[in-house]
Amino acid sequence: MNVISTVADLQKTISEQGQNPVGLVPTMGALHPGHLSLVQSAVTECPLVVVSIFVNPTQFNDKNDLKNYPRDMESDLGMLSAVLRPGDIVFTPSEDEIYPGEDNRQFSFGNLDNVMEALHRPGHFNGVAQVVSRLFSIVKPDLAWFGLKDFQQVAVIKELVRQTGDKVKIIPRPVIREKDGLAMSSRNSLLDPELRKKAPVIYRTLSAAAAMIGGKDIPEIKSFVENEINSENDFSIEYFEIADDEKLIPVKNKSEMEKGKHYYGCIAVKAGNIRLIDNIEIKHF
Ligand code: PAJ
Repeated sequence: MNVISTVADLQKTISEQGQNPVGLVPTMGALHPGHLSLVQSAVTECPLVVVSIFVNPTQFNDKNDLKNYPRDMESDLGMLSAVLRPGDIVFTPSEDEIYPGEDNRQFSFGNLDNVMEALHRPGHFNGVAQVVSRLFSIVKPDLAWFGLKDFQQVAVIKELVRQTGDKVKIIPRPVIREKDGLAMSSRNSLLDPELRKKAPVIYRTLSAAAAMIGGKDIPEIKSFVENEINSENDFSIEYFEIADDEKLIPVKNKSEMEKGKHYYGCIAVKAGNIRLIDNIEIKHF
């Protein structure tokens, strides 16, 4: 694999290779098997895969979160070298390469700006849209992979592509979990060992909530989830909503759930001062 850090070298290498389709897997590094599942899928579909590693400052609404975000380039390159082929590319740009000038673009995603993550992390999706649109215009991928671990991010990216008219096809992939059910996340490494031991409460609770949909209505399910999480020491819930996977409109009652639509229970939890998100499909028919 080629490790490239400038836009000029990247574009030269892509055009010299003349391969298509070109696949892009955007990441912020601190890679784990969840990221690698996206890379693996890209490798099976594209003769040229670009994996980007860039901790994007504009999407961090919390300065401490940006400062503490795990970074381990050596380990990342080791993991990628086991999955990527000789011609594939790891793109490791500096901030100046991605943002040669200040990026003042303001995106607007309608309802997606008014629910769940958008309410709790103001400006986050604007920053995600800035960096992903930059990566799309630099790499010009035919396909791009995103994980459903970041459920709302996938909807935002699809909306971004609809708005810009970009031809890139977005490929969502399922959440990869630890053996105990915890969704893999770069931030898991920041959990202290006691909190890490208790963290499976999140997926355990989501699974129980999904099983309740046959017999209980949404308000009861929501209070069950809130109680389960909040009763674990040092865990507190930020939100739990059940929303469809297109418009992400949270439903208040089961009667609002439409046949043929897919709904997900989406949760954000603070474990100590580490913020974790997860989701599960709620099969209502
Ligand atoms: P990051 O958190 O590094 O995640 C990169 C990609 O890996 C995202 O598409 C994310 O959804 C996916 N991913 C993370 N954990 C996963 C898991 N357990 N199972 C499946 N997929 C998983 O998401 C970002 O970076 C950034 O916002 C980015 C899109 C790169 C823009 O900066």
